[in-house]
Amino acid sequence: MQTKAAVLRDIGQEWSVEEIELDPPKSGEVLVRIKASGMCHSDEHLVTGDLAGATSPMPLIGGHEGAGIVEEVGPNVVGLEPGDHVVFGFIPACGRCPSCASGHSNLCDIGGAAFPTGRQISDGTARHHTKDGEDLGLMCLLGTFAHHTVVHESSCVKIDKDIPLDRACLLGCGVVTGWGSAVYAAEVSPGDFVAVVGVGGIGANAVQGARLAGARVIAAIDPVEFKREKAMELGATHTYASIADAMAALGDSTWGRGFDKVVMAMGVGNGDALGEAFHLGGKRAKIVVTNIHPTAEPSMAIPGAFLTLFEKQLVGSLFGSANIRKDIPQLLELYTQGQLDLDTLVTKTYTLDEINQGFEDMRSGNNIRGVLIYD
Ligand SMILES: NC(=O)c1ccc[n+]([C@@H]2O[C@H](COP(=O)([O-])OP(=O)(O)OC[C@H]3O[C@@H](n4cnc5c(N)ncnc54)[C@H](O)[C@@H]3O)[C@@H](O)[C@H]2O)c1
Ligand SMILES: [Zn+2]
Ligand SMILES: [Zn+2]
Repeated sequence: MQTKAAVLRDIGQEWSVEEIELDPPKSGEVLVRIKASGMCHSDEHLVTGDLAGATSPMPLIGGHEGAGIVEEVGPNVVGLEPGDHVVFGFIPACGRCPSCASGHSNLCDIGGAAFPTGRQISDGTARHHTKDGEDLGLMCLLGTFAHHTVVHESSCVKIDKDIPLDRACLLGCGVVTGWGSAVYAAEVSPGDFVAVVGVGGIGANAVQGARLAGARVIAAIDPVEFKREKAMELGATHTYASIADAMAALGDSTWGRGFDKVVMAMGVGNGDALGEAFHLGGKRAKIVVTNIHPTAEPSMAIPGAFLTLFEKQLVGSLFGSANIRKDIPQLLELYTQGQLDLDTLVTKTYTLDEINQGFEDMRSGNNIRGVLIYD
């Protein structure tokens, strides 16, 4: 069949919205009509080259934060049928590998191995092709910047049909990643002092995770005033325009003790900022690195003495260290109950044709999340 997709051909280029050819689903795969896709900074890393070597080869279809409706299932699909509503996990969860079996499906071995190929898990080939017949790769094996896609069922989480898909899509990356960075990776506990560095789609949800976990102080750090305002709406208690400003105010925000938990969620991670934020943490602080550092960044300088003397912990977190089959339905229930705010996260919506404007708005700091809506 034919469908429309946003294709990236090379680093530094714009997204090209074009008609593509989509093959039917093979064994274990499903055809999904995508209804909405968030625009995450990880897709912007494809354009800047910051993720070079870590994702699909180009040309590729971008997008990894999507939700839609199953239209067709291939042979041997066991958990889905046409008409089911699904959120895609940006890392497939096979359920059987040692990582999945030990409760870390965010690190699924099968998904991880297929990730940099950009091709289908089932047989390593492409279902997506340009009109000229060239194979297209997929960001996160998904390619949600398209009206339809074919993905493996291990990338899909079935959800309640009552949940609006233009909100549910955010669970495919930003909400789970940010919330889990606070709740699982940082292990925020009642009464903690928490700092979140960067209030985009990820950081906004780290703020919500910290709030739901009972943090006493939630300091949101972002140079953009609009982001700081939104952080307060989502549960922050203090805001600062820079890590340096937050450092200067440690006496006020944490009674001089330093933060118990620091979540790094800037658009592009860098060692200097991490080294600075390391000092925001107090004794036994957990500093969680969720933002992606450029793959080309060689190494970072962390003050080693304080790692030991203050027993600080530096922790990486992928996909919120979460388990999508448990956490996506559970978080959607918190949304339905009014405990988790998804509505404030969606600043602006776009059509697929407007995708480059959406990313321009991300670069300008205008959006917590821009969301593409396909009708
Ligand atoms: N680990 C994971 O599983 C995972 C998943 C998704 C995204 N990410 C990464 O998380 C990061 C954030 O993604 P996003 O979609 O929220 O990005 P975003 O662009 O929506 O938001 C980033 C925010 O960081 C702020 N910022 C920039 N420089 C800053 C600084 N020096 N101090 C404080 N704030 C600063 C920006 O103003 C912006 O509000 C990206 O690096 C993305 O690739 C990681
Ligand atoms: Zn993402
Ligand atoms: Zn697995």
